[in-house]
Amino acid sequence: MPRNIPLDERIIVALDLPSAAEAKALVKRCESHVRFFKIGLQLFMASWFETVDWLRDRGHRVMLDLKFFDIPETVKLAVEQLNSRGVDFATIHGNDAIVRAAVAARGDMKLLAVTVLTSFGEDDMRAMGMTGSIADLVARRARRALELGCDGVVSSGLEAETLRRDLGGKLLIVTPGIRPGANVRDNSDDQQRIVTAGRAIAAGADHVVVGRPISRAADPIAVIEAMQGEIALLDD
Ligand code: C5P
Repeated sequence: MPRNIPLDERIIVALDLPSAAEAKALVKRCESHVRFFKIGLQLFMASWFETVDWLRDRGHRVMLDLKFFDIPETVKLAVEQLNSRGVDFATIHGNDAIVRAAVAARGDMKLLAVTVLTSFGEDDMRAMGMTGSIADLVARRARRALELGCDGVVSSGLEAETLRRDLGGKLLIVTPGIRPGANVRDNSDDQQRIVTAGRAIAAGADHVVVGRPISRAADPIAVIEAMQGEIALLDD
């Protein structure tokens, strides 16, 4: 199914950095190849909306990944505060009432529900006394998010194929837990459910989120070009 997503928007570079200055330096290194950036908790705590506004002024797309989770009214008010800031994607987490409240307040933003963190493994599930498989949990949460009006989900590349097949083309799938190369497990950091960029897109993801493999690389552009090479083969 053609998704018509430009190659320079397929990778969302996660700006997980401690200051606006460092984030801007990374953006300047990458922006010839990438036009979509993610601001998460660390950078938002350091720079509030400064980096969001700066990215927008440069014409980039922005995913603000704060994973709102609170009582429905608080989530609604937070999403309302955000929806005039020019953010493209925002993330939320939670039960039906929370998701419904966020959807009602989202304005033009695309709202993505976090299904299960990519750092969360089967062992974590057992330790929490949860039964069933992660794949089933992701599928249940994704279906519910879509029914409640979310635009998409954040899910690992391992579940993307089933989600795309079962939930159709309308759902946006954004996939973190990306590592380069054949031996993805060698550089997993704290991530558990990891795949390559090419495999995630082949499985049906619209975008991949990539942080440390780019931000900690000696040559970020080389990493980006390799990942975009895998993706371009699929988009042809
Ligand atoms: O450095 P790395 O590529 O592992 O970074 C992944 C990014 O995606 C981080 O910013 C992390 O917060 C985010 N993320 C994730 N898993 C999710 C949702 C977001 O890893 N389910």
